[in-house]
Amino acid sequence: MNQKVWKAVDQYLDKMLIPPDSTLKDALATASKAKLPAIQVSSVEGKLLHLLVQIMGARNILEIGTLGGYSTIWLARGAGPAGQVITIEQDPRHAAVALGNLRRAGVADRVAVRVGAALSVLPDILRGSDQKFDFVFIDADKENDVSYMQWAIRLSRPGAMILVDNVVRFGGVLDPDAAPEDPGARGSRDLLEFLSTAPGIDCTAIQTVGEKGWDGFLLAVVTGD
Ligand code: SAH
Ligand code: DHB
Ligand code: MG
Repeated sequence: MNQKVWKAVDQYLDKMLIPPDSTLKDALATASKAKLPAIQVSSVEGKLLHLLVQIMGARNILEIGTLGGYSTIWLARGAGPAGQVITIEQDPRHAAVALGNLRRAGVADRVAVRVGAALSVLPDILRGSDQKFDFVFIDADKENDVSYMQWAIRLSRPGAMILVDNVVRFGGVLDPDAAPEDPGARGSRDLLEFLSTAPGIDCTAIQTVGEKGWDGFLLAVVTGD
């Protein structure tokens, strides 16, 4: 079992389950041409986001970490024409690529890209809206995952779903000292430590293998307790 097989299986699942989609393909090509890092969710994980948003009937969605807007397109499509997605991106270059991709995908009218460090933008979002989020996707700098989770809980309605990407990091979550080049693993550990006693939230995490290697995601429901 190795990376080559994981990738081949992802490609097979993609081929069988996800209809060819020139918009998503173009979004990836545009991001690649602009030299954005290819760290967007895989197509099968994007489809998972889309399906979870649909299952939740989520209308108000928050994303932390836009990159070129690939996951944003999946979320916005899942939310449907009445949906509202706010996505936060620190890097103006990434945000510009995302805006173009969202426009070409025909979802720009339901997505607001907020440019800035998430921890600066989130207090603004709190002040600017009395609407609570139904779904939050956390996928930015992993070092701040505890803060992002606290903000997500605060900004979400009871019953809302929160999904955190990249919590396993090639197993680095077990021993962050073994992967000093990846401060993200420390972030995941801190997140799990926080959640191990946090009230008001009910969680699980699933490790995954695929074209992006060995990782995993955390899924949480806000209980409001
Ligand atoms: N969700 C995207 C991938 C996001 S990659 C997708 O799957 O398509 C992570 C993004 O978070 C990068 O674009 C990076 O610039 C951004 N980021 C990193 N630190 C950030 C911060 N403090 N605030 C907001 N965005 C940040
Ligand atoms: C990285 C970030 C991600 O969000 C991801 O899904 C994979 C890798 C990274 O920063 O390396
Ligand atoms: Mg990610």
